[in-house]
Amino acid sequence: MLNVQNIRADFPILSETPYGKPLVYLDNAASSQKPKAVIDALMNYYMHDNANIHRGVHYLSQKASAAFDEVRGKVQRFINAADEREIVFVRGTTEGVNLVASTFGRMNIGAGDEVLISAMEHHSNIVPWQMLCKEKGAVLKVIPMNDRGELMLEEADKLITDRTKIVSVVHISNSLGTVNPVKEIIRKAHAKGIPVLVDGAQSTAHQRIDVQDLDADFFVFSGHKILGPTGVGCLYGKMHLLEAMPPYQGGGEMIHSVTFEHTTYNEVPFKFEAGTPNIADVIALGAAIDYWNHLDRDAVEKYEQELLSYATEKVAAIPGVRLIGTAAQKASVLSFVIDGVNALDAGMYLDTKGIAVRTGHHCTEPVMIRFCIPGTLRASFMFYNTKEEADALAEQLRKAIAFLQPQPAI
Ligand SMILES: Cc1ncc(COP(=O)(O)O)c(C=O)c1O
Repeated sequence: MLNVQNIRADFPILSETPYGKPLVYLDNAASSQKPKAVIDALMNYYMHDNANIHRGVHYLSQKASAAFDEVRGKVQRFINAADEREIVFVRGTTEGVNLVASTFGRMNIGAGDEVLISAMEHHSNIVPWQMLCKEKGAVLKVIPMNDRGELMLEEADKLITDRTKIVSVVHISNSLGTVNPVKEIIRKAHAKGIPVLVDGAQSTAHQRIDVQDLDADFFVFSGHKILGPTGVGCLYGKMHLLEAMPPYQGGGEMIHSVTFEHTTYNEVPFKFEAGTPNIADVIALGAAIDYWNHLDRDAVEKYEQELLSYATEKVAAIPGVRLIGTAAQKASVLSFVIDGVNALDAGMYLDTKGIAVRTGHHCTEPVMIRFCIPGTLRASFMFYNTKEEADALAEQLRKAIAFLQPQPAI
């Protein structure tokens, strides 16, 4: 059993009162809130340890270097990578995908080759591949989904061809909540010798990740969605792939030696980490991982599933509401549209009651096109949310609909 009230006390922002109302924060898929331990780690770094890392002989630099370096091992254990050198610090999921597209992709994808993604990708797992395909004359192919928002795996079988050079799929959809069978997709791709990138932006927040068990070739996630700060994330890559890839950006840290004639590159992962890294945020990401490690992850998953069922039942019972994303396997993301009510208007109404939800296409425009809708209202829950908050959402939604729906002419 989770002690949610104790957990909530760890998150200072949850006691904010926007417009004098208790905050009901249901925008966790966009960014999670941060426990005090993460905020303290950030502040502590700037108050006591701040210095550039890795080349300083002085006390502060060594202290900051040790604190920074330690986090790579924490991330390795957090996602069960085989070696901490397989962890590359990036700005977030978006940069992780871009890094792979512009290094592995540029090196391995040519005219007529194919990149396979899915119908429910976030723009950050579409556009980098689209740009690469355009540059190289390659083809972007898409695994379709059914009306529940589940990938049609039988179609994937047909779409993986001998021209496919990489499969890049989202683990959990941010706009539908669907949990994709990525392990199975990876197995299918590997049967044809094709590497797979998994977009773990959402999954890392809702389930334990084991990149070795998944057998993912690349796995990317963002710190800010897993209780950590913005501006930091990780790319995991299998060692032999990272070693074969060219560098991403040029600059300090990524080099072994430089002359005007020739540069030799540093080893993995530093080859991919040009310039001064985001030292403070990496250290705070380490504090976020410590926080996860003290939680009972089984209890967290169970509780979030309970919250999802409870909120789904409450919201689906409201006349005029239609759920978008009703997959059998879902994470705690609830997307819906309301007959005759604009999602943005409803979102703004909820905001006046202190309830934070997200409206629009959630950076998944192709998903909205697939469901023939302009956007959804999305309530996304984290383990610090409560059933009472789901009740508040449902109650205020009913009021929003009554307030916003056009009244019949008398
Ligand atoms: C599934 C998914 N992929 C990628 C991203 C992009 O993450 P970031 O903006 O942190 O790079 C998000 C963010 O919402 C996401 O939900």
